[in-house]
Amino acid sequence: LQVSATADVCVVIPAAGLGERLGLNQPKAFVAIKNWSLLSLSIKRVLEIERVGHLIVAAPSNFKEESLSHIDRAIREVGRKIPFDVVEGGETRTDSVKNSLLVLDQLDRFVLVHDAARPFVPKQVFENVIEKLDQGAKVVIPVIPVSDTIKTVENSKVVNTLDRAKLKAVQTPQGFAREVLSEIYATSDLKPTTDDAGLAELAGISVTTVEGSVESFKITTAFDLELAIDFFNRKISK
Ligand code: CTP
Ligand code: MG
Repeated sequence: LQVSATADVCVVIPAAGLGERLGLNQPKAFVAIKNWSLLSLSIKRVLEIERVGHLIVAAPSNFKEESLSHIDRAIREVGRKIPFDVVEGGETRTDSVKNSLLVLDQLDRFVLVHDAARPFVPKQVFENVIEKLDQGAKVVIPVIPVSDTIKTVENSKVVNTLDRAKLKAVQTPQGFAREVLSEIYATSDLKPTTDDAGLAELAGISVTTVEGSVESFKITTAFDLELAIDFFNRKISK
């Protein structure tokens, strides 16, 4: 087992979504909690992981300058500077990640894709993903158990009930050996998927799961943002 001491992990942060479900008429990654944008909170978490040596942010076309200032501010706050790139996002999350992969470096052995919309991801989850990649897994995703019963519904009618014991809710960061991620995004008929591992599954590549965290919840709706504000206030008052 080879454990590298170098900063050979690149983190890609897709931050180019419009945040339509949040409904604040501004791209979600730039919505702030106590003066810190979701993007800058996510970047601060990323900078705290010693193995991370490269950061790529995919931003809406008119938010590239602003993204640079959010990266700068996070770097100053954490006190750790690493090489970074800001690229233009695309129409779908898949397009945004694809654009990010154009600026990958040969030194990036592993690539972790992490949603800007999950600003409270604990360090442990990054470590769980990196550990499995170190052990040779090609694609690694953090998951948590599902508490609700999940049913398939069509036209307001229940079609069937899925076996909850087998269901997992999928989070980010999703980790990849660089060559594997580049390969699954290189296909000409790229299908937009809601996560990156979905493309690996379509390509028949095996995907390994590790333990995620309830703290890594995705801010999607206005209620999620309210919860996030309370959570943030509780954390900083401790
Ligand atoms: N994302 C992106 N480019 C897109 C769409 C989404 O980079 N074209 C990013 C978002 O910025 C977010 C992550 O992918 O960090 C997860 O997407 P989601 O939660 O759906 O965010 P939005 O697309 O912004 O929200 P909505 O779907 O409500 O518009
Ligand atoms: Mg979206």
